[in-house]
Amino acid sequence: MKKFFIKTFGCQMNVNDSEKIAGILESRGYQKTDKPEDADVIIVNTCTVREKPDNKALSFIGSLKSLKKKKKLILAVGGCLPQRAPELIKKHKHVDIIFGTFNFMKIDKFIENLNSEQICEILDGPIEEEKKLPLVKSSLETPFSAFVTVQRGCNRFCSYCIVPFTRGRERSVDPKLVVEEVKNLADAGVKEVCLLGQNIDFYRYGNVDFAELLYMVAEVKGIERIRFQTSHPAGFNEKIAKVMSEIDKICPFVHLPPQSGSNRILKLMNRGYTAEEYIEKVDMLRSYVEDVCVSGDFIVGFPTESEKDFEETMKLVERCRISHGYVFEYCPRPLTKASQMEDDVPKEVKNRRLKELQDLLKKMALEESSKKVGKVEEVLVDGRGKKENQFSGRTKDNRVVVFEGKEDLVGKFVKVRITKAFPHHLEGVLT
Ligand code: SAM
Ligand code: SF4
Ligand code: F3S
Repeated sequence: MKKFFIKTFGCQMNVNDSEKIAGILESRGYQKTDKPEDADVIIVNTCTVREKPDNKALSFIGSLKSLKKKKKLILAVGGCLPQRAPELIKKHKHVDIIFGTFNFMKIDKFIENLNSEQICEILDGPIEEEKKLPLVKSSLETPFSAFVTVQRGCNRFCSYCIVPFTRGRERSVDPKLVVEEVKNLADAGVKEVCLLGQNIDFYRYGNVDFAELLYMVAEVKGIERIRFQTSHPAGFNEKIAKVMSEIDKICPFVHLPPQSGSNRILKLMNRGYTAEEYIEKVDMLRSYVEDVCVSGDFIVGFPTESEKDFEETMKLVERCRISHGYVFEYCPRPLTKASQMEDDVPKEVKNRRLKELQDLLKKMALEESSKKVGKVEEVLVDGRGKKENQFSGRTKDNRVVVFEGKEDLVGKFVKVRITKAFPHHLEGVLT
């Protein structure tokens, strides 16, 4: 039996695309392997959101050269990096197949048609096949928890962001297909789904908006937890907050990236909201779901960002009790509007602001986590911890919990009494 290995860089959307690729190859009789040296086909699914992921993918591709010399194998590179700049991949002559974000579902055809020439197919927009992607059953990263992409692309053109150029215009998946996929996953034993979209609150298919989609997905028997991301502060609305308060299965966690707390920078970023509007949205959300965990992405060192601008970001984090988040140093990307501005915040200032903001998020996380001590939390066990007999899982609001347990608990819900809080995890005992 032929084997394939997939290496995925980037966001959950890419993870889900890779799962679909795996599903297609499995339906063609291939078997997944965790070892590149055992593979007959290696697929690298790339990201280009910042320079770092570009470099990681290119260096991984370079490192496969020696393996390719040793054995007969097909190397395919796809995703956002070739979609943006196919020439960066084409010059690696040991790469056999190059594809983009719109045609990953043709992977089996590319492999079938391969002869001695490098294949490179980059399309400008989505194709019909995108609408009937295979329903994945077997090749999930975790068998009890699964991503379901409900929206692709982005129309917002934030001035720093490459995604609208690599993923095309926003389009939502037919809710009937979403529900069918969720049912299929539930039949295969999945208990938790995470609905994915770049700006999921803007989901719309005919008359169905995102809140209605949530009601529909919540009807599926066997699915006990529903997550979703990413929310956009301009799109998140009261109807969604209301569904979250009404349906217990929907987890009290919203990834709502502010990016900055300075109105001047938000305008330059073309984000479409002010810090005050962001605060209003969070307050509105908490008026429906009191103990919701709000998380966010932040960019520090955007062109012209002053100390005062940065202070406003720090204030926003405290005001909104954002207790989880990712901080990125601004990195100019080709094609974007901001790349025409001078990248004028020095590297050391970006570094310092990154660290200060990360420290504040850590402090906020510890404060929020400490509130859990003494409480009993429902945890979906997802694997082993670092110590012997230690297992880990997540609470409904997405906090990691470690506790002593047994292998057969993996994939099951357990009740854990929280005994200790740390910024990035909780410790507890099974009840
Ligand atoms: N659609 C989501 C949103 O609007 O927040 C996520 C978009 S992007 C895939 C993930 C994160 O990467 C962004 O939230 C942003 O913080 C970061 N990012 C995007 N472009 C960047 C850039 N040029 N420099 C630094 N960070 C960037
Ligand atoms: Fe990028 Fe903005 Fe679209 Fe998010 S909303 S993917 S940050 S352009
Ligand atoms: Fe995701 Fe990276 Fe593309 S973050 S959308 S894989 S550029």
